[in-house]
Amino acid sequence: MHILRSIDELRSLRSQTTAASQTIGFVPTMGALHLGHSELLKASVAKADITVASIFINPMQFNSDADLAKYPRTVEEDLEICSQLNVNYVYLPQTSDIYPEAFDTSVTPGSLGSLFEGASRPGHFAGMATVVVKLFNIVQPNIAFFGKKDYQQLAIIRRFVADLNFPIDICGMETIREADGLALSSRNAQLTSDERQEAPRFHEILGAFAKGFAETNSLNNAYAHALEELRSMKHFQVDYFDVAERETLKPSRDTSKPLVVLGAILGSQVRLIDNQEVQNSEI
Ligand code: PAF
Repeated sequence: MHILRSIDELRSLRSQTTAASQTIGFVPTMGALHLGHSELLKASVAKADITVASIFINPMQFNSDADLAKYPRTVEEDLEICSQLNVNYVYLPQTSDIYPEAFDTSVTPGSLGSLFEGASRPGHFAGMATVVVKLFNIVQPNIAFFGKKDYQQLAIIRRFVADLNFPIDICGMETIREADGLALSSRNAQLTSDERQEAPRFHEILGAFAKGFAETNSLNNAYAHALEELRSMKHFQVDYFDVAERETLKPSRDTSKPLVVLGAILGSQVRLIDNQEVQNSEI
């Protein structure tokens, strides 16, 4: 496995792979790799000729310096995981390459970025989209892998790839969970022990909502029940919880469409997000 630190090295890798007709699979990360990332890396290694992972804690997508400061930094362990999974290259960008002095351009998602996480974390998606666009331009992959846990992030990336004509296939991978159902996240380490114990309820409630809706076809009843259950959690407050169309993420109660239920709950130090695709049994 090779570590790349400069844009020139990535450019020369792209020239070599193009000359050899090899495809590049790309897994952008902020490090603190867990089994969810491992699944993305494995999928890339299986599907593409060459896999590039990047590790860059992107300051532009954090809402506060305190949040950025407490984000876990585990580069040595991350490199070990990449090496064990047969990743070919890990790109460790220098901040000055991503945000050179006088940097003054950003990519701001449209309506897809304004609700849910976008409303709770102003500027987060512009920061995320800007760095992903930059990484796409630097790595020039054929295919890129993202987890469905960050459902809105994935929808925004699919949208700008189509809108801005990037020749990249976007592969959305299923959420990987702990045995008790909690979605894996680099932020789970910041849960208190009481919060960690209660956190799997979140996934259970979303699952019960999906089941209730599929069995009864009554979206409103299932929604009201799930909201009540979420509000009864002891160690978390509901930030948002709503049902939306899968592609546009417009809140919707139109049960003839493929829908997704999205939620965020706030603990003392950390917010958890999760989602579940739901389907009317008659579709
Ligand atoms: O999902 C993440 O880890 C980040 O948002 C990403 C896509 C690597 C951009 O910084």
